[in-house]
Amino acid sequence: MKVVAYSIKAFEKEFLAKSNQKKHDITLISNPLSIETAAYAEGKDAVVLFTNDDASAPVINKLADMGIKYIATRSAGTDHIDKIAAGSRGIKLANVPVYSPQAIAEHTVALALALSRRITVAHKHSLNFDFKLDDLIGFNFYGKTIGLIGLGHIGLATAAIFKGLGCRVIGYDVNKPARLPDIEFVPLDELLRQADVISLHAPLTPDTFHIINSQSIAKMKPGVMLLNTSRGGLIDTPVALQGLNTGQIGYLGLDVYENEKGLFFQDHTHDTLKDALLTELMSRPNVLITPHQAFLTNEALQQICDQTIKNLDLWQQNKCTGNACACANSCRAEVQPIKNIARM
Ligand code: NAI
Repeated sequence: MKVVAYSIKAFEKEFLAKSNQKKHDITLISNPLSIETAAYAEGKDAVVLFTNDDASAPVINKLADMGIKYIATRSAGTDHIDKIAAGSRGIKLANVPVYSPQAIAEHTVALALALSRRITVAHKHSLNFDFKLDDLIGFNFYGKTIGLIGLGHIGLATAAIFKGLGCRVIGYDVNKPARLPDIEFVPLDELLRQADVISLHAPLTPDTFHIINSQSIAKMKPGVMLLNTSRGGLIDTPVALQGLNTGQIGYLGLDVYENEKGLFFQDHTHDTLKDALLTELMSRPNVLITPHQAFLTNEALQQICDQTIKNLDLWQQNKCTGNACACANSCRAEVQPIKNIARM
């Protein structure tokens, strides 16, 4: 298959080459997909994307006009793709539905521990040979109540780590999972009221957009720790800043930010104008921001590339990508294995 892969970072090339084994002819592009860079897809069958690529309706239409039939995203989340537009132009979609949920769970807990134990503050002081203990008092996680919103692969992996720290774990999900190992399933309001630490693990959908807003923050315990390694749009960020100002939010750990598109994954050191909200947040010692790196482990990167190549393999054989199918209306029924089509 002829493929163009957008937003490719240098470190991804080795993983992708190992998965591909030269099966597909993949052009690697470091630029994100946009209405301008869509032109690179001319003459290709498929496009491979990442989370901050622009796969809105105008871009999808341009890709469809150039004959693109498939879009595979190297992510679990598919909120950056206009699925309806893709469906209406007959473009098949696939994602990487599960890859090392432990990678994201471990990063979430790393944010939590670093915030509580003031690790980044201590590190900055130590670099200046300032070894005073003032301002470095943390809290034990042992015995604390952790509230998880979204109990899918990552939520459950996060729960397992917090259980290991001796926490009580409560959780909320729109679909109650069949198996809930040592997690108390509670209504959302109850979770907001009881949790010392709230961690978000739901996808970005119209229902979860700004699920953390002024009303939900008002219901939280004063001084709560709020963690988001899912998607930035789950939190109304200016309102979270107000929560930090009043002390209602005691700690904020973000791996994702609602205005991260065009900002994260690139070096903006020398920009004269910097994102004011992010600058304000990062000036606080009780805020820790990482640039959407929770997935970034060797294990996860290889699994992402393996599944992406598998998606391309299946499409080449005219098969549906199964669990990885992200089409608005699942194409499983309509796609037949190529040998059946050949017989018709
Ligand atoms: P998953 O699909 O296994 O679990 C998501 C859970 O959220 C499901 O159980 C679903 O029922 C629940 N959910 C959906 N709508 C909800 C709502 N309105 N309220 C409460 N729960 C709701 O997905 P997984 O693998 O656990 O990933 C979760 C999210 O994490 C992804 O959608 C993606 O946005 C994000 N992610 C972030 C990464 C990073 O590097 N920061 C890497 C991978 C995923």
